[in-house]
Amino acid sequence: MKNKVVVSSIVCLLLLVLTLPAYGMHHGKSKPEKTGVLLVAFGSSIPEARVAFEHIEKKTREAFPEIPVRWAFTSHIIRKKMADEGKNLDSVAQALSNMAEEGFTHVAVQSLHTIPGEEFHELKQTIRAFEHIPEGFQKILTGLPLMGDQNDMERVVSAIISTIPEKRKPEEAVILMGHGTPHGSNVFYTALMWQLQLQDPNLFLGVVEGFPEISDILPILKKRNIQKVWLMPFMSVAGDHARNDMAGPEDDSWKSILNHAGINCEVILRGTGEYDEFVEIWIDHIRDAMKDF
Ligand code: CO
Repeated sequence: MKNKVVVSSIVCLLLLVLTLPAYGMHHGKSKPEKTGVLLVAFGSSIPEARVAFEHIEKKTREAFPEIPVRWAFTSHIIRKKMADEGKNLDSVAQALSNMAEEGFTHVAVQSLHTIPGEEFHELKQTIRAFEHIPEGFQKILTGLPLMGDQNDMERVVSAIISTIPEKRKPEEAVILMGHGTPHGSNVFYTALMWQLQLQDPNLFLGVVEGFPEISDILPILKKRNIQKVWLMPFMSVAGDHARNDMAGPEDDSWKSILNHAGINCEVILRGTGEYDEFVEIWIDHIRDAMKDF
């Protein structure tokens, strides 16, 4: 008698365990699967710069036609500025809360940053907070920024070379303006500068905040007697830095500094987000993240 009770209890327990997942008792699995992509950028207050975001979104939708694409912007200064103009942009936390609310179960968060700097690490922290909330996502994964590893860096070098205007002659220099950061990941820029130099000694990369600066590049240009420079932003959008710090009329813009040194400048106001060559790298990072769904 006693044995029978024990055996039937074990059978019951076994049945219960076996059927649990089917009844959706397992964490989060009661919901139907719903995958989404969240694109995350710093943001830009300059309307003309936003063509880069539109292009990235178009390419992302083409790459994942079945998957809804959402946006979040990390700069609260820009979010505030846009809110004053009547446009409400989400922060990462807001966008993820909305997606959880809408029943998304799997989210690939793609950083549209250039390097894994401070903002990328903050993004990872926010995502970590969303990893374990009850009734939250089953999977939330992050795609690396434009330059996440050596392979990306090589692809970026090729993308840069293929997006330089054909009119540029070999004796003319090209200087890309990266953002730069006091964060340790600024070394991505110095590494990129070296790899560009290996391909073409007249390709340079400087940054607005950090190393190398335009003042590190100028003596090399003078030594080589460079007469003309092509200035190109190395940021997802051709926003405030490109229009003012790079190409603006103020004395301390790169264009003015070069002009004062007797060097002519040709300015390209297109962010990396406007070129397929760069956007494909970000999209491959979304694909990489989704492999772990
Ligand atoms: Co800045």
